[in-house]
Amino acid sequence: MPQAEPGLLILGGTTEGYALAAALVGAAGLRVVSSLAGRTANPRLPAGACRIGGFGGPEGLAAYLRESRIAAVVDATHPFASQMGWNAAAACAATGTSLLRLERPAWQPGPGDHWHVVADWTEAAEIVGRIARHALLALGRQEIGAFAPLDHVRFLIRMVDPPDPMPRFAQAELLLARGPFTEDAEYALLRDRRIDTIVCKNSGGSATDGKLAAARRLGIPVVMRRRPARPDTPHAATVAEAVAWVRGALGSIAA
Ligand SMILES: NC(=O)c1ccc[n+]([C@@H]2O[C@H](COP(=O)([O-])OP(=O)(O)OC[C@H]3O[C@@H](n4cnc5c(N)ncnc54)[C@H](OP(=O)(O)O)[C@@H]3O)[C@@H](O)[C@H]2O)c1
Repeated sequence: MPQAEPGLLILGGTTEGYALAAALVGAAGLRVVSSLAGRTANPRLPAGACRIGGFGGPEGLAAYLRESRIAAVVDATHPFASQMGWNAAAACAATGTSLLRLERPAWQPGPGDHWHVVADWTEAAEIVGRIARHALLALGRQEIGAFAPLDHVRFLIRMVDPPDPMPRFAQAELLLARGPFTEDAEYALLRDRRIDTIVCKNSGGSATDGKLAAARRLGIPVVMRRRPARPDTPHAATVAEAVAWVRGALGSIAA
């Protein structure tokens, strides 16, 4: 198929990635392609074209950028997707493609918060083993293994898809749920289940910050994993900023 229009590749799988695709699909003179890693069964599909699955490292991504005549890339992957941003930076440098990082701001602790900020799940498990009797793990399915050896702690494990296989926990209950979660619902969950510690990662955004406000109200500590390091690239904090960057980067798009 001829691909006369400049292509924009959105590395997605996030709320921001979907919103950016929806905002730009249909813009005159622009071809929008979103890419999903393919981790989730039955993923929600973005507006416009979509491809699913890894590219095969930075070299594979560089080859894709050339073949598909991609002029700009927006890395809108999740703040805890630790590899894709580095691959995008390398591939864009190798092909002379413009690159923007779209990332929602991290949550910041405020008055009344009791956060233990950790670098990885091993450090988190060490703290949970010391302070928790009934912990909420608000994590992804590949992130709970470090907590399984803590036989003396009960866990309420909340995630979107069940882990396969489920690590062997002495005391654990699985709660399958997809956000957004309101502060009041989170408050009721923490209070009714007598949760005394929350474990989560600093995803940012408003869809899942209700648990932090609820923890503040209840005086519950939060073991918060900090975000992984990212390459130094131009950055947008909002979809609107990213739209403006795309319009500037691909000057042929109608304003
Ligand atoms: N990690 C999280 O907490 C989290 C939460 C919500 C959503 N997500 C989404 O899930 C995806 C995978 O997360 P991850 O933590 O495994 O990422 P990652 O560690 O950064 O990426 C690992 C590998 O997955 C492939 N990949 C990642 N994102 C891709 C995309 N948008 N399109 C095509 N291939 C992609 C790449 O494979 P190749 O090297 O073969 O190209 C990459 O090297 C990300 O797109 C992210 O936005 C992640």
